[in-house]
Amino acid sequence: TKCPFHAEVAGVAGGGTTNRDWWPNQLRLDLLSQHSEKSNPLGRDFNYREEFRKLDYYALKKDLLDLMTDSQDWWPADFGSYVGLMIRMAWHSAGTYRVGDGRGGGGRGQQRFAPLNSWPDNVSLDKARRLLWPVKQKYGQKISWADLMILAGNVALEHAGFRTFGFGASREDTWEPDLDVYWGRERTWLGGDERYARGSEGVPKAEGESVLVSEDDADGKVHNRKLENPLAAVQMGLIYVNPEGPDGNPDPVLAAHDIRETFKRMGMDDEETVALIAGGHTLGKTHGAGPADHVGPDPEAADLEMQGLGWANSFGTGKGADTITSGLEVTWTSTPAQWSNDFFKHLFDFEWELTRSPAGAHQWVAKDAEAFIPGPTPDAPRRRPSMLTTDLALRFDPVYGKISRRFRDDPQAFANAFARAWFKLTHRDMGPKSRYLGPEVPAEDLIWQDPLPKPVHNPTAADIADARAKIQALGLPVGDLVTLAWASASTFRGGDKRGGANGARIRLQPQRGWQVNQRAVKALEALERLQPDTALSLADLIVLAGGVAIEQAARDAGFYIEVPFAPGRVDALQEQTDVESFGYLEPFADGFRNYLNAPSAVPAEHLLVDKAQLLTLTAPEMTVLVGGMRALDASWDGSRHGVFTDRPGVLTTDYFVNLLDMAYEWKATSEERQLYEVRERRGGAVKWTATRVDLVFGSNSVLRALSEVYASADGAEKFVRDFVAAWTKVMNLDRFDLLK
Ligand code: HEM
Repeated sequence: TKCPFHAEVAGVAGGGTTNRDWWPNQLRLDLLSQHSEKSNPLGRDFNYREEFRKLDYYALKKDLLDLMTDSQDWWPADFGSYVGLMIRMAWHSAGTYRVGDGRGGGGRGQQRFAPLNSWPDNVSLDKARRLLWPVKQKYGQKISWADLMILAGNVALEHAGFRTFGFGASREDTWEPDLDVYWGRERTWLGGDERYARGSEGVPKAEGESVLVSEDDADGKVHNRKLENPLAAVQMGLIYVNPEGPDGNPDPVLAAHDIRETFKRMGMDDEETVALIAGGHTLGKTHGAGPADHVGPDPEAADLEMQGLGWANSFGTGKGADTITSGLEVTWTSTPAQWSNDFFKHLFDFEWELTRSPAGAHQWVAKDAEAFIPGPTPDAPRRRPSMLTTDLALRFDPVYGKISRRFRDDPQAFANAFARAWFKLTHRDMGPKSRYLGPEVPAEDLIWQDPLPKPVHNPTAADIADARAKIQALGLPVGDLVTLAWASASTFRGGDKRGGANGARIRLQPQRGWQVNQRAVKALEALERLQPDTALSLADLIVLAGGVAIEQAARDAGFYIEVPFAPGRVDALQEQTDVESFGYLEPFADGFRNYLNAPSAVPAEHLLVDKAQLLTLTAPEMTVLVGGMRALDASWDGSRHGVFTDRPGVLTTDYFVNLLDMAYEWKATSEERQLYEVRERRGGAVKWTATRVDLVFGSNSVLRALSEVYASADGAEKFVRDFVAAWTKVMNLDRFDLLK
């Protein structure tokens, strides 16, 4: 309170009441210009892959190994070892990933920035990163923070005597906080009510629409908890679940319910979940030496002299044995810096008594046990084994309990399961294996990597010309081929780099059966019949056919343009395609094809921006693609909403020209305001129909400005060029095989 700068920052650039304050529901087009070149100090020509190849990888690993026991006075290592801290840092870096939208995860170095750097679950990880700084400094741009944080976790495990499954680099740093990740709507840290009062299917349900559902689980207890999608944590500011149990209720069985739900949302099954929690909690300790009111502001809120560190602790020495992190004070094993099977041994050997940490948090202590667990410093007294409520879930949930007993009896099975699950945890958001770099990339293909077969086609220019001619001879409408190519490529998600046209998984389940693809499948069948007569993979043929259709549509508009085509895609097999995991790529909405699965509380135009962000598009790219796809008559079901032209299938700017033309007026045709009619002001005849997505390009001031560019008299050629460039970008989003 003594700080003179606590008042609101006003009178300077960016201060005062902003557009977001006036219009909180404004379309977030800023999501489409994040991480621009302007925020990146390394410049356009920087190539992390090249830089990483110059790294002396094993020298770096050796430095990390040395770091593990190089205890610093400003943050002394527990038990003389930082392994627990480093593993927790890596796990919290990767653990924000969720399968629902592919966002979060350790792939972008985001733990350095708000909000993650200041999440209550990330207390003390500021120290872990600061301990790593000298190593980062030494190797500079040859290793990104994102890679370094994960590698430090791996090296920590190795230091503890554990054999990891491997490591792949290529996580490229970002230089400012992500704006797009939906972490929930609560306005208090560890508030979690709102995410449970909402729907669990698709996007959030409307205000006041209660979707609390009672479920009787196998344990016979009633759970009134349905977590809003795509969230994968029970409370704002947590990676997963409350360690004390749901809402602090120390019930291990109820805790298991939350664990299962949240870990599933990271793509982890029961066995992986048990292995991960037990493996992690084999090492290190939790920190709750004293009450939380000794802890100062988080890094983002702390004063300048804290220099980016947070949570200054006034309890005792404020560090070492006096550390306060989670407020829990638990040590699981007697060798917290060495890998062992003792987590399971203790879990089952002892009965557990509910107690409280010195900070007052619920935790469990082994009944009648000797005090044989070391304290963090040599002079600290020994203590009895202790556990978190969520740890006990691994024994008392019937399904987890069975797995835990097997792991207790078979340490090798546990170690194998943990090694694989840890690798998956830390690499799950990296996309195809072709992106992995470094000497420790495992040879084995794993199903969650969405593996692709080796190329069998190597088409020449003549082969491609021949395929073009055959596609044209099919005589399919432009809109059919464009819809198919879009359907194939547009599953890509920038967050976890999954999806895309490579693999031609559009021909496999589940994609083939998705509602949004029903029109695309018709053209797909024609290309499947054609493919054996060509020298191309089906994946390439689909993309080529989209390009051929666009070239035709541009010619009909008077422009001769070649749509660039980079062959080399392959066709995946069904057994290389995890149906459940691909299910998460199904779009709830795809405004580019004018698709909306169901009326939603989130307006369709916001869902369009969400999709455009997943596709890594800018606002101008999104604009030109929507306008172009309307002109090309490429809606998901063949409907003519938004096709504001008398020449559908021709690459004209008619969509923009007519949208901005004052000759027309627009009216919603239903109370939900999803569909609109476009009437001539004079005479009142209905000219066209439209969705919210169509009209937003005339209504939103920024999108209108972009639309004006293409609606202008000199906009037609630019439109064709820009459309082809944006289209090509989407077709190639997943071509990591072409990376240098
Ligand atoms: C520490 C909770 C899963 C690795 C902790 C702490 C809490 C916690 C409260 C104490 C932090 C502190 O006070 O310093 C949970 C919960 C989990 C979970 C609720 C899921 C149900 C995992 C997983 C891993 C892991 C999956 C890794 C694979 C660790 C490690 C530490 C730790 C190594 C020790 C940190 C140190 O020594 O400083 N965990 N955790 N945890 N956790 Fe977890």
